[in-house]
Amino acid sequence: MTATLDPIYQKLKNFIPEVEWTLVGPVIDEINRLKVEKKALILAHNYMTPDIFHGIADIVGDSLALAREAVNTQADIIVVCGVHFMAETVKILNPTKKVLIADLEAGCSLSEGITAADVLEMKRKFPGAPVVTYVNTSAEVKAVTDVCCTSGNALEVVESLDADEIIFIPDQYLGRNVQRHTKKKLHLWAGSCMVHEKFTPNDIRELRATHRNLTVMAHPECPPEVVDEADYAGSTAQMISFIQKNRPAKIALITECSMSDNISVPFPDVEFIRPCNLCPHMKRITLPKILDNLRSETPEVFVRQDLLVPARRAIEAMLAVKLR
Ligand code: 13P
Ligand code: SF4
Repeated sequence: MTATLDPIYQKLKNFIPEVEWTLVGPVIDEINRLKVEKKALILAHNYMTPDIFHGIADIVGDSLALAREAVNTQADIIVVCGVHFMAETVKILNPTKKVLIADLEAGCSLSEGITAADVLEMKRKFPGAPVVTYVNTSAEVKAVTDVCCTSGNALEVVESLDADEIIFIPDQYLGRNVQRHTKKKLHLWAGSCMVHEKFTPNDIRELRATHRNLTVMAHPECPPEVVDEADYAGSTAQMISFIQKNRPAKIALITECSMSDNISVPFPDVEFIRPCNLCPHMKRITLPKILDNLRSETPEVFVRQDLLVPARRAIEAMLAVKLR
């Protein structure tokens, strides 16, 4: 094993047996070499598998952090290890850069559940109400949006608007979770995340019955009844901050499977109970596909020219909102 690979393997040894590492290690090595040669930056969402998250990523984080990082980069090429809407967001913020994604089919049930025509219909139904759109949407939908939000800033974005009624799309559960903390009336769309909507309050009750002194954290894409059973709700990055500050002894994260694997590495003293639902879209992104992607520089992510300016305006309006 090379000297550069050894520290990486120390992080991955609980997930990758040594015999498998003889195949995985060289792929990681080659991606990291190509990355330097091509002046590429690799962004990875918290739901990527540990080999991607700990092996090759330059920046890891939630949707908000990845969007923020995308604004500042000097790299020539940005490889997005996440789903398509994340890569589109990066392209919108960096239209002159080459943005790559290892699989163009890595979609999202939220993004696929609403079109720009649907948004225009809602605007007709609720005239004058500004549109707040979760970043888990296509560039087309963002282009007819006033301001985007993520699960890490949704309440702040809603509160920042000078309006009593707001069109909040497309995640009905994130919308209902935000509605409980604001006096503004949110008009919702019936979208949902296929991963988080599967969790039930009973899942949490059963976990607590089996594991004493368990701290439960739920993602706000979960139904409000699930959030009610949890001790804390927040974006994937907010969950990590909570753990950093509070160091609970035993945790269950009610979210996508890879999240617990990834953050168990920096928190070896915390016991992770691992209930999980897999996101099939996130899991389309694999190390061998990333290597091909970086070698061939395809597939590349493109956004229609006429969508770039209005979609960017909505994302930048979000980035300008101060977090509490
Ligand atoms: P965050 O990482 O922003 O919490 O988003 C979760 C998610 O489902 C992204 O697809
Ligand atoms: Fe979309 Fe849910 Fe998968 Fe995130 S976890 S990409 S919201 S389907």
